[in-house]
Amino acid sequence: MSFKILLLGASGLLGSQMDIACKNEKYFVLCPNHQTLDLENPKQLNQYFDEHPVDIVINCAAWSRVDDCEKPDLYPQSQCINGTAVGWLADICMRKDILLIHFSTDYVFNGRKQGYYNETDSVDPVNAYGRTKLMGEQQLMQTHSKYYLIRTSWLFGCGGNNFVKTIVHLLKTRPQIQVVNDQWGSPTATVDLAVWTMRFLKEKPPFGIYHFSNSGYTNWYEFAREIQNQICEFQAEIQPISSALFKRPAARPANSQFDLSKLQKVFHDSPRHWRAALSDYLSKEDFH
Ligand SMILES: NC(=O)c1ccc[n+]([C@@H]2O[C@H](COP(=O)([O-])OP(=O)(O)OC[C@H]3O[C@@H](n4cnc5c(N)ncnc54)[C@H](OP(=O)(O)O)[C@@H]3O)[C@@H](O)[C@H]2O)c1
Repeated sequence: MSFKILLLGASGLLGSQMDIACKNEKYFVLCPNHQTLDLENPKQLNQYFDEHPVDIVINCAAWSRVDDCEKPDLYPQSQCINGTAVGWLADICMRKDILLIHFSTDYVFNGRKQGYYNETDSVDPVNAYGRTKLMGEQQLMQTHSKYYLIRTSWLFGCGGNNFVKTIVHLLKTRPQIQVVNDQWGSPTATVDLAVWTMRFLKEKPPFGIYHFSNSGYTNWYEFAREIQNQICEFQAEIQPISSALFKRPAARPANSQFDLSKLQKVFHDSPRHWRAALSDYLSKEDFH
């Protein structure tokens, strides 16, 4: 079946891979840029939908600068893009009977659970970004019923800045780097999330919330070590450090490993291990 898709945030880390995945499926994709379709402008949003009928919206647009969300002068804008505007989108999709695929984050959890987080676990964000993303989730669920709300975590891939790129850059340019070893989570290759999003369209599981990451989990220090091991080139020393000593404006959950059993049950399949996805990414991006 062919779909007409509106993809928001196509210039971003996830959106750029989503665009490729949609085109690989031969779907018709509209990718208006930020200026053409500004999520902060509800009038423009309504007008765009009236002029461009679509079957599906894939919303990869977001304010993703976690530390900047803590700044009082920037918080209202991040709250509008990640929260209020998701409600506007959901309202339009509800009125026009459009399927809405929206992405959220592991940062809606406080990280104090022992073990894996599943889709029914209580949410309790520890930073401002998490609060804006939670607002988006709530706005969506209160307004529309035809949605996939896909929570993901620790994204890496071609098409935007990400942890892997940062670590490779630091390994290249410094003799020694420090990386936190007390935050645990599940890395996710954007290419895998994009391909699995296409599976949601094709296999049509029940609407609702799903957790998606690659299989396996790690902490940021071990993740950095694995990058260095796989790249085999830059011999800078990587030192573990606690988050108490590595101060950042926004707190991060200490644990946000995802339970993938709902996803595995509906698709009878599992995402590949993050190490395999990392190896694939390192072979594609030119780091030299
Ligand atoms: N990155 C991660 O590690 C991570 C982890 C968990 C969940 N997520 C979620 O995954 C999704 C994708 O994140 P990402 O890292 O790919 O984000 P990203 O690289 O920062 O891309 C964000 C996209 O949103 C667009 N955008 C920003 N403000 C907009 C506005 N007012 N109107 C229209 N478009 C706007 C940006 O366009 P311009 O560049 O032109 O402004 C860009 O294309 C988000 O929902 C995010 O919360 C990300």
